[in-house]
Amino acid sequence: MVHWTEKERTIITGIFSHMDYEDIGPKALSRCLIVYPWTQRHFSCFGNLYNAEAIMGNANVAAHGIKVLHGLDRGVKNMDNIVATYAELSILHSEKLHVDPDNFKLLSDCITIVVAAKMGHAFTGETQAAFQKFLAVVVSALGKQYH
Ligand code: HEM
Repeated sequence: MVHWTEKERTIITGIFSHMDYEDIGPKALSRCLIVYPWTQRHFSCFGNLYNAEAIMGNANVAAHGIKVLHGLDRGVKNMDNIVATYAELSILHSEKLHVDPDNFKLLSDCITIVVAAKMGHAFTGETQAAFQKFLAVVVSALGKQYH
């Protein structure tokens, strides 16, 4: 089981309690689709992903970005039980959606960049370490049901 210091818990819950999901979610997912264009293949039913402008203005991308952050919320609420918390989502991404688990890390890096840009100086090294540790644990849990 992953050990969390009190400081890490405070940082992680603090980031999520102040997070503007409607801003961060769309920006993070669209960044992922633009910077790592192969991830677009999973979202062909979302409509126009023709270029960066189209992706950033795509309402389906925006809505799904918000949904992903709500997915992370579950981990924040269950920090001592992250593997079990993501078992179902792991099965969904693996068996139904066939998402290559390497892509989880790419999206999580995009989330980090967008959160860091928004927080500015408040995103200290300690904050970055705690946030990326949390995302790494979630990414690992999402990959657990792949065979
Ligand atoms: C669906 C979370 C990464 C592709 C979902 C859902 C959640 C979620 C909560 C909705 C599940 C439901 O409706 O029951 C996450 C988290 C991720 C992640 C927390 C990593 C941080 C990815 C990546 C891709 C992806 C990297 C593809 C490159 C999809 C697709 C769906 C989905 C295609 C279904 C969309 C739809 O048809 O509406 N994900 N996801 N996910 N995810 Fe992920």
